[in-house]
Amino acid sequence: MLKTLDVLLLLCLVGAVNALYKQWIPDTKYENKTNWDKGAVPCGNDIVQFSAQRKVSVFVETTHAVQEMRIPVDGELILNSGAGFYVVAGQDPDCGAGVTTKFKTSESLQWFNPALWQAAETLDDMQQGKFLFSVHEESVPCQYDDVVFKALSSFRVDTSSSLPSIPVKSVSVLGKTFDSKSDFMQYLSSHTGQLQFHGSSTVTVGNSGCVDPSGCDCGNSVNNQKICATVTCTSLSCKKPLSPLGHCCEVCGAIVTIRYASNFNLQTYRRRIQHLFLVMPQYKSIQLGMSKVLKSQRLMGIIPFGSSAEIQVVILDEEKGTQSEALAWDIVKDARSHGANLGIVEAEFQASTGSSSDQLGSSAGMVVGVVFGVLIMITFIIVVVVLIRKGVVKMPPMPSLPSLSILRNNNDTGDLGGPLDRGYDNPMFDKPVMLPEAPSLYGTEINTSISLTQTGVHFVNPVYDENETDFTA
Ligand SMILES: *[C@@H]1O[C@H](CO)[C@@H](O)[C@H](O)[C@H]1NC(C)=O
Repeated sequence: MLKTLDVLLLLCLVGAVNALYKQWIPDTKYENKTNWDKGAVPCGNDIVQFSAQRKVSVFVETTHAVQEMRIPVDGELILNSGAGFYVVAGQDPDCGAGVTTKFKTSESLQWFNPALWQAAETLDDMQQGKFLFSVHEESVPCQYDDVVFKALSSFRVDTSSSLPSIPVKSVSVLGKTFDSKSDFMQYLSSHTGQLQFHGSSTVTVGNSGCVDPSGCDCGNSVNNQKICATVTCTSLSCKKPLSPLGHCCEVCGAIVTIRYASNFNLQTYRRRIQHLFLVMPQYKSIQLGMSKVLKSQRLMGIIPFGSSAEIQVVILDEEKGTQSEALAWDIVKDARSHGANLGIVEAEFQASTGSSSDQLGSSAGMVVGVVFGVLIMITFIIVVVVLIRKGVVKMPPMPSLPSLSILRNNNDTGDLGGPLDRGYDNPMFDKPVMLPEAPSLYGTEINTSISLTQTGVHFVNPVYDENETDFTA
């Protein structure tokens, strides 16, 4: 079943590219009621007011009745075909008493604010609201991403950053997609372009897409400070909060780290996890973000030398990370059993509950270690016993050994240094003096000890030997 699923997934994902669509959420659309200070789109009895000094490009999709309109000095209204304004003679019966409604504009909506973007794998997914969760750095468009500003809408975005340019693959504005650098530069210098994009950095399009099937590093770590300056972290209640790479805040949940081989495909794998696990009802509240990250390597844990790429899977849930941990387990188990097909070399996880996939490794390792230790000891004892019996090895004289001194008291035992002239001796019958009450030998509840002599293994019951020898000497 899983095998066929693998094949199917592989078949339908050939040719998949590893870029995402990132859509800017805010808009400056006339019909969006959140853009009006009264929380409603103005109607026929209202006075519409745009701030005189504010630069704004407002998209008007349909026709609207107004009482009066005050327009800005430097701004524009982009009228959709068929859109327009008209004045109602007298009172508009469908409108209230008539108020002055201001169009809200903000100069401070920043490109590098992760909360103002939503990501999807395809434009279809975007339309259907199937958004992907990403760490903060990757919520903002990456260098390989297609940037989308909603069609039939306008916007105003502050692109200020410490770097002169913001490279992306393409930008769609007002339903037109720009993927040529010069075309987009021309658009930016237009009146509309200047009202929509302001700030010190220039968005440049025409960057190549990500051609590595295993994914590409987003490239936004250079903008980390700018990105994290807009983020407010909430306080956490989990035991061991985690710090995902590229995220501005610590989180409760789990992080799966995957080392991959050349046949790994990020998009295939993302969909596999989606289809296998995220559809399950118990994972309904889960947010999962998967991407290639560059982890800096440190020589002996201190000296940085380059970085290595790995796949980071960040899993968050609404609870304290218990669901995330369960999913992390599922992902690691799946990766370990299908690793070769998926191109996964190694998968492990850390959870904010304090557990990690190492625990399996270490406890299994401990069991193996103990079993091996016991086996080695038993083998050693058997070998020593056999060798002594065969006469290959002679017991060295060890008079201080308590168990041997017991035996020396015994007349039946030969000289320790003497030649072994006996064959196999049954210890049960060998020591009638030592074992005065034979039945006690079989009493399992009685603590017995084992001693070695040149004739074999003797079961010595300390209870009955107490008077003969000082056992603790
Ligand atoms: C209206 O604007 C808000 C905030 O900018 C945005 O979240 C919402 O999606 C917009 N509504 C529509 C219908 O586009």
